[in-house]
Amino acid sequence: MTRKSLLILSLAATPVLAGNWNVPIVARSLDNPVPINDETIRNAADLYSRQCVSCHGREGRGDGTEEKVDYSLQSILATPTQPGNQPLTDGELYWKITHGVGKMPSFAGKLTDEERWLMVNHMRRLPPDPK
Ligand code: HEC
Repeated sequence: MTRKSLLILSLAATPVLAGNWNVPIVARSLDNPVPINDETIRNAADLYSRQCVSCHGREGRGDGTEEKVDYSLQSILATPTQPGNQPLTDGELYWKITHGVGKMPSFAGKLTDEERWLMVNHMRRLPPDPK
């Protein structure tokens, strides 16, 4: 195989961020019922360490011990650079945590509704990607 075809193959393996989840349109506008205060911030951080850090890493950079996620949660929260793409809403994040995809487990049976919204709030507070 030539160098060039190797390069093309590795480009093809780059995940399409937030594109291939088929999030239904209605999920976009779901309201986040969980207020942000000292208590919910603490509970969310605690739950994130128990349920998400093993794959996503403490700051969402994808450097977990159980599974490496090849992009950071911050990168999906950033404003999209592609014209026409819209930033992810709370509802979409909630939907993704609820349903999962591939190696991302579904948390529908593992976390309550409220806990999944807590995770959405926590993701919004992750420290920015240094890249
Ligand atoms: C077993 C490993 C694992 C655990 C535990 C896990 N995730 Fe994930 N997560 C993944 C992987 C792998 C992906 C990438 C899936 C893909 O795009 O194919 C992902 C993707 C995501 C995405 C979607 C990113 C996008 O592309 O839009 C969100 C949001 C997310 N995870 C949040 C969470 C939260 C919150 C928790 C804890 C409640 C959690 N994950 C726990 C492995 C995990």
